[in-house]
Amino acid sequence: MNVLGIETSCDECAAAVVKDGKTILSNVVATQIPFHAAYNGVVPEIASRMHTEWINGVVQEALDRASLKPADIDAVAAAAHPGLLGSLLVGVSFAKAFAWARDIPFIAVDHMLAHLYAPRLAYDDRPAHGADYPFLGLLVSGGHTIICRAGNFDDITVLGATIDDAVGEAFDKVSKHYGFGYPGGAVIDKLAKTGNMDAFRFPMPSLHKGEHRCDVSYSGLKTAVVNQLDLFRTGPKPANGDKPADIAASFQKTAVEILLRSLFRAVEDSKLDTIVAGGGVAANSYLRARLAERQDIRCIFPPLELCGDNGAMIAGLAYQRLARGETSPLTATASARVKSFKRTYPAPAPKLG
Ligand code: KG4
Ligand code: ZN
Repeated sequence: MNVLGIETSCDECAAAVVKDGKTILSNVVATQIPFHAAYNGVVPEIASRMHTEWINGVVQEALDRASLKPADIDAVAAAAHPGLLGSLLVGVSFAKAFAWARDIPFIAVDHMLAHLYAPRLAYDDRPAHGADYPFLGLLVSGGHTIICRAGNFDDITVLGATIDDAVGEAFDKVSKHYGFGYPGGAVIDKLAKTGNMDAFRFPMPSLHKGEHRCDVSYSGLKTAVVNQLDLFRTGPKPANGDKPADIAASFQKTAVEILLRSLFRAVEDSKLDTIVAGGGVAANSYLRARLAERQDIRCIFPPLELCGDNGAMIAGLAYQRLARGETSPLTATASARVKSFKRTYPAPAPKLG
């Protein structure tokens, strides 16, 4: 079964065709980064306008690369939440129109659950890296930071989450303030490779107690790093260092430490020893290296090109829903937020598609 997956939740206009929930036949990601770079962040109005202009061409490209025609598509799925509402609506509306025109099923998919599905996808020349359920999910993106127990592809229980900013947002904001470039995550990751991670000491949030054991916080770190800006501009150059690289490495080290401290507590509490990571920040090389040090934990990361937003993960997850006989009505719409991704106390067990 060929499923067309569409992802327009933020600044990537993406479409892919996936066979039987596993084999990627094509995966097209048209990034709007150059159009938002001048503003050092995503401008929602520009993002949704560009999706409207690009979506038809991106879907056509996905069909062409898979050597398929619209008639060869058995179902169409789109990311419906969470994300920028105007952007999500473009993908959802396009997918519903495609489904209606071809008289095939439409499936509205959750974008964060799809990130967790990404490692289960395979290319012709590369195998999938699936893990048996249950496992611990680490969802780290520009809008979310979630540590969860994944009982199935559509069943997660949030064990910890950010109480303020998302980790990807902290990378983006620090990069913006220092003028390192946009988007911040990839830029800081690269810059940090030549920096001294112990050059600056940044604070860790004090979240150790009770229900906050597995939560994280990034607003304090973000403020502390931004407060170094004057010193950065006017202070002496380190004897054998490079200031931008040192800031990047020291910030990245602390950002990853915050994540790992809570993640390892979740490992301890849940007794789960497999972690599946997903979302743009799962591409971070320092996070990957630090997790690889833990011989007692199996860590599964998607390939780099499937960490960020893409249509393949949407098509893959949609196939699983279809296999259960589930489809979405053509009245389905998009929503910017998902309530159950916020930590509530005590945590509920969300059921999402
Ligand atoms: O999943 P994603 O593509 O979009 C959202 O759902 O938000 O994640 C984007 C986020 C951005 O904040 C970006 O700076 C971050 O992922 N990111 C990284 C890296 N590559 C992208 N963060 C840290 N290290 C990276 N290598
Ligand atoms: Zn995402």
